[in-house]
Amino acid sequence: MHAFPTEWARAQFPALQLAIEGQPAIFLDGPGGTQVPEPVIKAVCDYYRKNNSNLGGKFITSQNTAELVQRARVQLAEFLNARAPEEIIFGANMTTLTFSLSRALGRTWRPGDEVIVTSLDHDANITPWRLAAGERGTVVRTWEVDLETCTLELADLQRLLSPRTRLVAVTLASNAIGSVIDVASVCRLAHGSGAQVFVDAVHFAPHGPIDVQGLDCDYLACSAYKFFGPHLGVLWGRSQLMEQLESYKVRPAPGCAPGKWETGTQNFEAIAGVQAALAYLREVGYRTSGQAILHDAMNVIREHETHLGQAFLEGVRSQHRIEIYGSADPEACGARTPTFAFRVHGVTPAEVAEKLARAGIFVWSGHFYAVDLVDRLGLAKDGGLVRAGFVHYNTLEEVERTLDALARI
Ligand SMILES: Cc1ncc(COP(=O)(O)O)c(C=O)c1O
Repeated sequence: MHAFPTEWARAQFPALQLAIEGQPAIFLDGPGGTQVPEPVIKAVCDYYRKNNSNLGGKFITSQNTAELVQRARVQLAEFLNARAPEEIIFGANMTTLTFSLSRALGRTWRPGDEVIVTSLDHDANITPWRLAAGERGTVVRTWEVDLETCTLELADLQRLLSPRTRLVAVTLASNAIGSVIDVASVCRLAHGSGAQVFVDAVHFAPHGPIDVQGLDCDYLACSAYKFFGPHLGVLWGRSQLMEQLESYKVRPAPGCAPGKWETGTQNFEAIAGVQAALAYLREVGYRTSGQAILHDAMNVIREHETHLGQAFLEGVRSQHRIEIYGSADPEACGARTPTFAFRVHGVTPAEVAEKLARAGIFVWSGHFYAVDLVDRLGLAKDGGLVRAGFVHYNTLEEVERTLDALARI
């Protein structure tokens, strides 16, 4: 195993060259969207230059586009460890795909059925289910976040599950505070009650390997712009379920998956880009383990990010004005993503973000659409939280510079 190729990785991302008042910018905005490596930019441009077309034509650009979409499905199936490429569905983004699935699933629910959402999740994994349930007279139960740990306790889920539960919608990792949820256990419990599980993997995807078969979930969604690709949503669904469900589609569209879920013309240039993002990740794997295997690459990234997270939390320990929400234990960094939510005593989150931006450090502030979590924490009227999110292209030097900048606030 070789050392993590930080210098090589950073050289792939043109955006990282940005300087603010002579200092290199530090991108800690990854949970809102990561930067893209040069091969992704090239793949998007090349698609327009060489293959721009719609599907179904007898001519070469149309045929190339069809091949490109199929190749991308195969690669995403590997990324998620899906059973077949046909289980991969493209769409505008996670939110739109979740609305589409929620409408189709809602049609199978009856009054008195129950669905479970969490107060830890991004709203894209709450409101679509609430609205679908509202249309069917289905009861929505909330799996409340434990405010001490900012995570979800399985015992609380167990109390909510009943023979009427049709679906549990849960995140793989919190986009606000980085806690990782034991979704395999969620699936075991939910399936034991006869319920299905929809997983929001948007935040987790850039930080570690996803294995839909290992998790044994039923549906999972992610977004390529969070894992170094273009703005594109990806939905995975167990093929048997996706075939049975009735999708909302226009007439000549195919009656089988994935086509029956992919409404309208797809974003082919983004689909070209996501392939290049996965090829980039494969190369990270090759440069560390000698094998271009996606899951190995994501494990290596997870390990590297753990060091960044530990350094950040160790540095924060001596800054008594900073309060971390969620796990602040450097030893427990392997069990979370390096996404840290905090407040600086006496300064609003927006002011912290502004001051850091002036120092060339990009963080988000507010609720990050984790509206229930921020509400439960009692911070909704108080500006929410500051969020610093590290990804694999960040460095220990950047962690140090961020800690210095925070100490000066
Ligand atoms: C955890 C999580 N879920 C869902 C979403 C929504 O994703 P999209 O922008 O693809 O709709 C986001 C976006 O920030 C997210 O972080």
